[in-house]
Amino acid sequence: KRIVILISGSGSNMVNLVEHCQAGRINADVVAVIANKADAAGLAKAEKLGVVTECVPHHGYESREAYDQVLVERVQSYQPDLVILAGFMRILTPIFVSAFADRTLNIHPSLLPKYKGMHTHQRALDAGDTEHGVSVHFVTEELDGGPVILQAKVPIFEGDEVEDLQERVHEQEYRIYPLVVRWFCSDRLRLLDGKAHLDGAGL
Ligand code: GRF
Repeated sequence: KRIVILISGSGSNMVNLVEHCQAGRINADVVAVIANKADAAGLAKAEKLGVVTECVPHHGYESREAYDQVLVERVQSYQPDLVILAGFMRILTPIFVSAFADRTLNIHPSLLPKYKGMHTHQRALDAGDTEHGVSVHFVTEELDGGPVILQAKVPIFEGDEVEDLQERVHEQEYRIYPLVVRWFCSDRLRLLDGKAHLDGAGL
């Protein structure tokens, strides 16, 4: 399978996924890493891993749709079977979502449907929650609203700060994102009638 990963920042989930593919733990190749920011630290990390990188800056377009049209063309040029959002901080329009329908995954740092959008760790702390977590879901037109595939919970302890939750959540992200990607790449996971379906492992 061919994977394209979209990032905006440090790209630690991207690095983790590339390493899983390169080690043969996921039956796929990451054929490109694309960022919307030239200074995304993840770009250099991807290059170091020998992955093709590209920057598609989002400035200077007259609309979100106009940018998405260009982004779709760039992603499509790599003919991906799967598109992975890994800290890609752009709201995608139906132009992008429909181009890669049923084959786009995102990871969101909350226990969806709680805390869609930004600043999830702060919001969980402000609400006095005692648990928090992370969700991997299929991307649909509703922001952070597509069918959830897998979640991991983390505890919130008294005195925790955003950085504590960030670290605890990241640790779980590195565990569950590769698992879901492996399912997808071995044809066990699909989006059917708007729901996530996972076939048995056949053990
Ligand atoms: C992760 O917390 C992910 O859940 C969110 O953005 C962050 C990306 O981190 N969507 P990194 O760039 O993979 O380190």
